This record gives sequence, structure tokens and C-alpha cells, in this order.
Amino acid sequence: MFEGKNVLLCVTGSISVYKAVDLASKLVQDGATVDVIMTESATKFVTPLSFQSITHRPVHTDMWAPVAEFNIKHVALAERADVIAIAPATANTIAKIARGIADDLLSCTVLSTKASVIVAPAMDVGMYQNSATQENVKRIRNRGFKVVGPAIGHLASGLEGPGRLAEVPAIQAAIYQVLGQNGDLAGKRIVVSAGGTQEPIDPVRYIGNYSSGKMGFAIAEAARNRGAFVTLIAASTSVPPPLGVELVPVQTAMQMREAVLELSRTASALIMAAAVADYRPQNSAPNKIKRKQKDLKLELSKTPDIVAEVSGSVIKVGFAAESQDLLQNATGKLKEKGLDLIVGNDITAPDSGFSVDTNKVIIIDRNGEADQLPLMPKIEVAHKILDRVVALLPRVAH
Ligand code: CTP
Repeated sequence: MFEGKNVLLCVTGSISVYKAVDLASKLVQDGATVDVIMTESATKFVTPLSFQSITHRPVHTDMWAPVAEFNIKHVALAERADVIAIAPATANTIAKIARGIADDLLSCTVLSTKASVIVAPAMDVGMYQNSATQENVKRIRNRGFKVVGPAIGHLASGLEGPGRLAEVPAIQAAIYQVLGQNGDLAGKRIVVSAGGTQEPIDPVRYIGNYSSGKMGFAIAEAARNRGAFVTLIAASTSVPPPLGVELVPVQTAMQMREAVLELSRTASALIMAAAVADYRPQNSAPNKIKRKQKDLKLELSKTPDIVAEVSGSVIKVGFAAESQDLLQNATGKLKEKGLDLIVGNDITAPDSGFSVDTNKVIIIDRNGEADQLPLMPKIEVAHKILDRVVALLPRVAH
């Protein structure tokens, strides 16, 4: 995804440095070239070798160390970075960059760069809440730095409060949003629905389905990484949603309908990965239904076909999870619902469909052309779907 992109990870002295090692690993796995600068105090917590082993690149710790690659190290690092992330960022480093102090490799580099800078503070609660730090954080925010966190919770000092380094996915999301700024979905608004709707029977029971939300979440994440402004309409799911997207939680098919119709009006594409209930109880009992009666009959009403109701120039992508006659059923749904593309999958196939991290799908377009993809991770399936959406974009009014 991020091949050819340069991330400069600046690491300062905090017990949470171990999370930065994980962050570096995730960035490398997603294809980015990761350079690391460590302050001297950071090297007291983790050795440069940890980062070097993960990034396969020399780690920069000393402003004055002779180097083969660059003449003026801080300028070269600042120039080649597509994004700089300071994680963890101590109160001291934040104070320095807020005031433009340049007395070590990290602060010189940040002062020289034209790249976007993401700052993830990590410190004790007292240091964070001190008005000096608060002023410095405000100052860097006003200068356009993106501040991620800190998270609230247990701190190394034993105290509780704000000061924990933000979790890796949150810092990753901020980095990827910057890297995606010039992606092929930059400036586009994409609406994705995910998860399974729940139709209440009474206050404690509902009709639901096995959808985990993983496929829709993968699409939202992939679209975010390609520069889109993503609105994620999420029904019930079993995994946490991606960060850096606009999240609209819903429960029922009717709530999903209202959100989809409203939000897709100004969108370039609507991708309906949600498993929407086809029927809902005609009346949801106001109180818990007791087991006194021998048998219980539920009267169900048909729900509206949401994606079929969406009109306008928006690109419509639907899913067809089938247990038989995949090609025929999916093609039928494409036509009935007025879709541009339909993504079909055989839910009886192993490693495919609900809950798992992989999927084997067939993408069918309006001309009836079917592209059978091999089994692959859902995030890769997401990118394949988005490649097809990008190809249709010139048709869209906005
Ligand atoms: N869908 C929708 N509104 C519904 C039901 C489904 O918008 N009330 C969307 C789904 O999000 C999916 C596509 O339509 O993108 C196909 O969903 P699926 O459940 O496979 O199809 P149904 O039309 O419900 O047909 P059936 O259940 O008979 O297979």
C-alpha cells in the first residue's frame, strides 16, 4: 500500500517506546520505508538495534555521527520524509518544537521539514496537565501539527489520567491519512455500510445475523488510506471500527436506511457491505416476553431494500453472500438493485465470508463481466473493489 512512501519516526524517552517498536513494524509491513531518529533518552528504554532490526535501516541517534548517505543529516531526513511522527513525544520535546529550539537531531529535523508532523504525547498526568505543556500543545496544534492522544488511563507512575501514548492503530491512522492525501480517492466522499442489523423483538431479544463487520471495515480502512473522506455506517459488529473515519452507529434496518439515504446523497460511492435484515418484527414488545405461552408466533414485516432505493449519480456497490447459484443470484441482484458492481461470495466456502479475515469473491459489473479473485485477505479484497470504484469515478457528479 505505501511502497515508496517515507515515514520518519521520531522516538523520545518514555516507557511507552515499546509501542513505537510495534508502530514501526506495522508501517514496514504496510510497505513504507521507515527512518527512525531516537533521542538519547529514548535509547535508555530501547536500543537502536530494536528499530534497526525492524526497519532494516540504520537508526539515527547522533547529529554529529559521520554518515555515508547524507551530507547534512537533519536536512536530508527532513526532506525525504512524506510524514513525520513523533511517538512517543515527551513534554520536553513538545516544548522544544513549540518554541523552535533546535539542539539535537530530532528538533533540528522537525524545524527543517515541510512535511506534516504528527505528535503523540506521552508523559505523566501532572506534566501533561501543567499549563506550560498545555500551552505548548496548543501552540503546535495552531501551527498545523496533528496531535494524537494522549490516551487516558493507568500511567507508569501508578497515577491515572491523560498521559498514556495513544494506541498504535490511532497513530497509524493519522500517518496513513497524511500518506493518502494524494491517493486516487483524495477529495472523494465514500459511504460504507458494515455489520449486521438487529431487529428488536422485545427489550432483551432481537433478530440478527452472523456479520462481523470485517469486510466493510476493511473497505473503510482501505478508502481512508487512499485519501477518501469515509463515512462508515456501522450496525452490530464483532471487531473495533477503523480510526480516521466518520462513524455513524445504527442498530436496525430502518435506521440504516435513514443514514444511507441521507449520507449517500453527497457521496461519490456507496458500498453496501452491511448484512441488512430482510424482515423485522411487526411490533417490538415494550416489555420482556415471558415464557408462559406454549408456542410463540412472530409476525414479521419486510424491510425496504435500501441500496435499491438510492438514486442519483452515486456509484453503487452491493454484496451478495450466497450459499448456492452464486453467479446467477449475484447478477440478478445487480440488475434488481440498479448496482454498478456486485461483490459475490460463496459463504459455504472455507476461509470465506462471515467472521474470517479472508474472502474469495467474484466482482461482477453491469456488462456482466465477472472477475473471480483468489482467496485473499479482506483488506486486499477491499483494494480490488476500490480499484473498480476508482475506474468508475469520472462518471460521478461530485
Ligand atoms: N440490502 C439492502 N437492503 C436490504 C437488504 C439488502 O440494501 N433490505 C443490500 C445489502 O447490503 C447487499 C445487497 O443488498 O449489498 C444484497 O444483500 P442480500 O442480503 O444478499 O440480498 P437480498 O436482497 O436480501 O436477497 P436475499 O436475501 O433474498 O438473497
